[in-house]
Amino acid sequence: MYTQLRKCSEPLTRKKLYIKFYSDKFAKCKIETNEVQPKPFSDIPGPKSLPVIGTLYKYLPLIETDYVVQEFLELCSKEKFEDFLPVLSRLFLECNITIFLTVLVSIFSKEERCENSTSSKLIDAAFTTNSAILKLDNGLQLWRFFETPLYRKLRKAQMYMEAVALELVSSKRKDMEVQYSKSFLNSYLENSALDIKDVVGMACDMLLAGIDTTTYSTAFTLYHLAKNQDIQEKLRSEAMQLLDHHNQQITVEVLRNASYTKAVIKESLRLNPISIGVGRILQTDVILNGYQVPKGTVVVTQNQIICRLSEYFNEPDSFIPERWLRDNSDNSNKINSGKSIHPYVLLPFGHGPRSCIARRFAEQNMQVLLLRICQRFKFSWHGNELGMVSLLINKPDAPLKFNFHEILKARPNFQNCNDI
Ligand code: HEM
Repeated sequence: MYTQLRKCSEPLTRKKLYIKFYSDKFAKCKIETNEVQPKPFSDIPGPKSLPVIGTLYKYLPLIETDYVVQEFLELCSKEKFEDFLPVLSRLFLECNITIFLTVLVSIFSKEERCENSTSSKLIDAAFTTNSAILKLDNGLQLWRFFETPLYRKLRKAQMYMEAVALELVSSKRKDMEVQYSKSFLNSYLENSALDIKDVVGMACDMLLAGIDTTTYSTAFTLYHLAKNQDIQEKLRSEAMQLLDHHNQQITVEVLRNASYTKAVIKESLRLNPISIGVGRILQTDVILNGYQVPKGTVVVTQNQIICRLSEYFNEPDSFIPERWLRDNSDNSNKINSGKSIHPYVLLPFGHGPRSCIARRFAEQNMQVLLLRICQRFKFSWHGNELGMVSLLINKPDAPLKFNFHEILKARPNFQNCNDI
């Protein structure tokens, strides 16, 4: 791809990345001609953009997430797992289904944990899709001419997800009046600008993009906490302080104050992001570092690499959540030698209008889980060093081996979970 690029003929002395955007030309137009001022973007006719999941926490009832998480922890108190990853996938599938589609599926029950249950097949279909795309995209692409075995696997996985999404959306449509009035799915179904196909498409996206992403990100965060007991202890103190009563629910206020928990998540996403960086197809010719890059070229930022460079972070390979704390008393400035962290270095959820639509939702789920898990258990790691394997997204390269030791019993209403 880069053989087409040639060094820009005009002398350029800029050291850092330089991008010439449309807006540069546009700015010139405004000055040099007397054209009519453009109308604002928001005036474009047609349906308004849909609610962005991340900004609508009123649609994301914490109480349900908290319930699902506690149900999950009850399971962890009763069973030992050879690999914690599959059960973590189950947790985040349940969070997605409960919150977006407002359907409760008892995902931790014996029936659902069987190989042939809907939830097991959904988790499988999401994984098949996420791991097949990259392989099909690279190489000879014979699937363009005939159906290769991998392409068939992908097609079947997609068809299964679509069938489940369609069933969930249809059943939701039938009993909309009786159930929660403010669910995310309801708001879509009530939107007259949307066709049922749009809503099913959205439900498919949720199922596909919502399971492995949060599962792998959480897996790495738990791994770092298990390997760094002092950091786990700090998170536990925050959890105990914010949730001092046994029965205290996790509220928006609790999460607002969970700054150490958020720093832990950020630091884990710095070391183990699920995506390499942000990929885009250029819509116009640009100049990158003195090279002309033609319109249509695929460019991918390398955040995963730069997040581990000492140019940007002191001790880049160490897990130090304190570097993200604003509070100087915790030495965050000293940790980064007084350097402020460049805002575009860490982009685990991408950037701009096509960034992750569920960022806040994913972060919220992870925060609730970390607070509750540290409140209730001490956990340690008994596997080898955990690395990443890149499928379409980065996945842990070995089974997740945790030992849990319960330090706080569940709330009484969670001790009678007979399904588990
Ligand atoms: C920790 C968890 C997650 C991480 C790290 C993550 C990361 C990302 C990234 C890097 C992108 C590409 C952004 C870009 O190109 O600028 C993305 C897009 C997307 N994500 Fe997430 N994601 C997470 C969880 C979720 C969840 C839970 C859902 C749905 C329930 C979701 C739905 C989507 C969708 C639909 C897109 C495509 C957006 C578009 O193309 O406009 N993600 N995510």
